[in-house]
Amino acid sequence: MKIAVINGSVQPKNYTGYTLKIIKDELKKNSNIEVIEINLKEFNLPFPGEAIDNDDSPKLQSLLKSCDAFILGTPEYNGTFTAKLKLMIETSGYPSPMKGKPIGLIGVASGVLGAVKSLEHLRSVTAHIGAFTLPRVVSIAEIEKKFDDEGNCIDGEV
Ligand SMILES: Cc1cc2nc3c(=O)[nH]c(=O)nc-3n(C[C@H](O)[C@H](O)[C@H](O)COP(=O)(O)O)c2cc1C
Repeated sequence: MKIAVINGSVQPKNYTGYTLKIIKDELKKNSNIEVIEINLKEFNLPFPGEAIDNDDSPKLQSLLKSCDAFILGTPEYNGTFTAKLKLMIETSGYPSPMKGKPIGLIGVASGVLGAVKSLEHLRSVTAHIGAFTLPRVVSIAEIEKKFDDEGNCIDGEV
């Protein structure tokens, strides 16, 4: 089982990455699971039909094809998931290499309502491309209160 943990934030230090690290560390405890990390900031992606230099979409497509399941992490930006994550979905091919495979979703947000809207939108898109989106998505509100500056979780409830 090969699982890709995909970070939809491209901020230099990002809370989505801090959160996904906890998930990665848990998954790595199972020796039957190979975990790979996909940081979208490392991929130069075009809009559909756009010609760009150093187009990384073929590399991304083959990585996604090689995986059996996915965890998608996104911050909430303007009430939805990130444009970079949408661009990944758009440039990863149609039909999607994620079609027919399980996807878990996790979202983080500054606000008290958490990433509910981003996760609703993302769930709709991942269902549309034919992935099996896990029903229990995870939304974390007031994310800046959950980690220190080094990315250590300081939430006493964890
Ligand atoms: C462009 C932009 C839009 C944002 N929109 C929202 C929002 O709609 N709701 C919210 O709760 N937080 C919003 N935030 C705050 C982010 O959710 C918060 O900064 C989060 O830590 C970003 O995650 P990241 O560090 O993984 O990039 C926004 C931040 C940015 C940069």
